[in-house]
Amino acid sequence: MYTIAVIADSQIPDRPCRDLLQAIKKSGHNAKYIPISRISVVVDGENVELRLREVKLQVDGAFLRSIGFLIDLEQFIRRLTVLRLLEESGAIVLNPLEGFLKSRSKLETVVELARRGIPVPRTVCTEDLYYAYVCCKEMSEFVLKPIQGSRGFGAVKLSDPDIAFQVMKTLLSYKKPLYVQKFVPKPGRDIRALVIDGEVFACMYRIAPEGSWKTNIAQGGRGTVCEKVEPELRELAIKATEALGLVYAGVDIGEGPSGYVVFEVNGSPDWRELAQVTSKNPAERLVEVIISRIKR
Ligand SMILES: Nc1ncnc2c1ncn2[C@@H]1O[C@H](COP(=O)(O)OP(=O)(O)O)[C@@H](O)[C@H]1O
Ligand SMILES: [Mg+2]
Repeated sequence: MYTIAVIADSQIPDRPCRDLLQAIKKSGHNAKYIPISRISVVVDGENVELRLREVKLQVDGAFLRSIGFLIDLEQFIRRLTVLRLLEESGAIVLNPLEGFLKSRSKLETVVELARRGIPVPRTVCTEDLYYAYVCCKEMSEFVLKPIQGSRGFGAVKLSDPDIAFQVMKTLLSYKKPLYVQKFVPKPGRDIRALVIDGEVFACMYRIAPEGSWKTNIAQGGRGTVCEKVEPELRELAIKATEALGLVYAGVDIGEGPSGYVVFEVNGSPDWRELAQVTSKNPAERLVEVIISRIKR
């Protein structure tokens, strides 16, 4: 019997975390929910240990779901060390820390994808207000996104470079990098492919609410099953997941005027809507995958 943890930022597990905990128990193993803030690093002489209070943390595997959203740089640095030590202890961490971190940055994501020839929208990420303004003028229709964001929160679509100028100036005064991306017209929907261990496990269209360009479920988008995943789409989703060093990912794909475009690769995707519309349970598959990797 293995002990498999689910690690996240919140004190209370969210729905995907609960699904994972349930699937771990169902497969006959020990499930443990651990808020990352509760894991301490103890250095005593030559001995370096992760602990939950006085008890040494010993797990065979862990699902890393979140390292926190509104956290300070110093908290982030501490948590990085915790997770690195966890991986070094021999535990199988899904997603692996390196890929998880890359996928958290929209900038790292487009860089890694573009380098492997995966189509992404033209993107400029800068702290130079004047240059960002010039790029907005060139792009004519563009999207400003938080470099670390999800669920469509905070992404704005603009076409007026001077409105963008005011927004970007404000963002910079709060030390936020500017992430400007050319708007890709799409047919009122995009595609969410959930890749698990080298296969598309499930796929759906996300239909944008009337009049909106965002398809996120959190923004009122609605899923419908995508039964037939054509080989080009399948290969793209798998390649994008691997490009970031992820074992599983929710890949967001647009159907642009000149073909598929990858918008995002989520290293800890929510799957509520996907599970509902496809009647498939990603958590059970993920538990199979982590167990097979623990056994290796
Ligand atoms: N460059 C773009 N052009 C058109 N639509 C986009 C573009 N980038 C993202 N979107 C749409 O915006 C929404 C959020 O995109 P995404 O980049 O995945 O951010 P988030 O992390 O907030 O989900 C999705 O509905 C996606 O289809
Ligand atoms: Mg997205």
